[in-house]
Amino acid sequence: MLVLGVESSCDETGVALYDSVHGLLADALYSQIVMHAEYGGVVPELASRDHIRRLLPLTRQVFKESGRTLEHLDGIAYTQGPGLAGALLVGAGMARPAVGVHHLEGHLLSPLISDSPPAFPFVALLVSGGHTQLMLVSGVGRYTLLGETLDDAAGEAFDKTAQLLGLGYPGGPALSKLAATGDGTRFTLPRPMLNSGDFDFSFSGLKTAVLTLVRKQGLAHAADIAAAFQVAAVDVLVRKSLAACKHCGATRMVVAGGVGANTHLRQQLTGEAAKRGITVFYPRMEFCTDNGAMIAFAGAQRMVHAQTDLAFAVKPRWDLSTLEAV
Ligand code: KG4
Ligand code: ZN
Repeated sequence: MLVLGVESSCDETGVALYDSVHGLLADALYSQIVMHAEYGGVVPELASRDHIRRLLPLTRQVFKESGRTLEHLDGIAYTQGPGLAGALLVGAGMARPAVGVHHLEGHLLSPLISDSPPAFPFVALLVSGGHTQLMLVSGVGRYTLLGETLDDAAGEAFDKTAQLLGLGYPGGPALSKLAATGDGTRFTLPRPMLNSGDFDFSFSGLKTAVLTLVRKQGLAHAADIAAAFQVAAVDVLVRKSLAACKHCGATRMVVAGGVGANTHLRQQLTGEAAKRGITVFYPRMEFCTDNGAMIAFAGAQRMVHAQTDLAFAVKPRWDLSTLEAV
């Protein structure tokens, strides 16, 4: 089954061709980051218009790269939600019949686009710009929420802290680059909810602690502050993830979403997990942030079970727990 995947929920236009037998054939991405950076965040109307501009050229590109043509195509998978309504409509409007994919399911399953994917069940740490969740994944569409952030998402905390340190948008990559040059032990920042005994997170207090520190220290020690923030945020993510694995008796876990590209998180988590006999699986670096490959892959999982829809509708707000299991 050959599936074209289309991601257009926010500020990345992603297109990919996934073959259920041969795997990922081609993927192409256009990031609108430069356009939005000027405004310090995503401008929805500009995002929609740019998706319209990029979608067909990217689609032609993946067909060309894969050596396949429209006649070979079995179906289209597009991000149906959650996301910006106007941006989602661009992907949804591409063609019918199609399967509407939940954006977070795309992220969750992205570590499975691999020659040696993890077997179900596994614990998933989903850390993106809009979400921070720990889940038990026992199959496609079988997601049990273990815990989530009560306020800011992890990526949002990276972005806001980066802003406080005078770094550009999006802040995650810039902050982690600066942190690599700093001393993470010079300042100690709080680890919110570390000992709350559940799998929930809170990042807004950490951001406020950075603000207080910046007011006191100025930006002279920006690299050390960035490092202290990264160490604190990663510490909480790692410890709660391991506690969730222990709770579920899981020996496998995956990390997905933009913050999954963070090298410090990858190093800490892999090392600590290994000590406990847990293997951690990550998506390819470029599939941590939004991309078409994860949508094509998730769509293919549903399409082989004949789950397609003819309705033209996007779901800017969509709860992952309402998905059908396959
Ligand atoms: O998954 P994603 O592309 O978008 C959402 O679905 O939300 O994640 C984007 C988020 C941004 O907050 C960005 O700052 C963060 O992921 N991010 C990172 C890194 N790369 C991207 N955060 C920390 N370290 C990184 N290397
Ligand atoms: Zn995303």
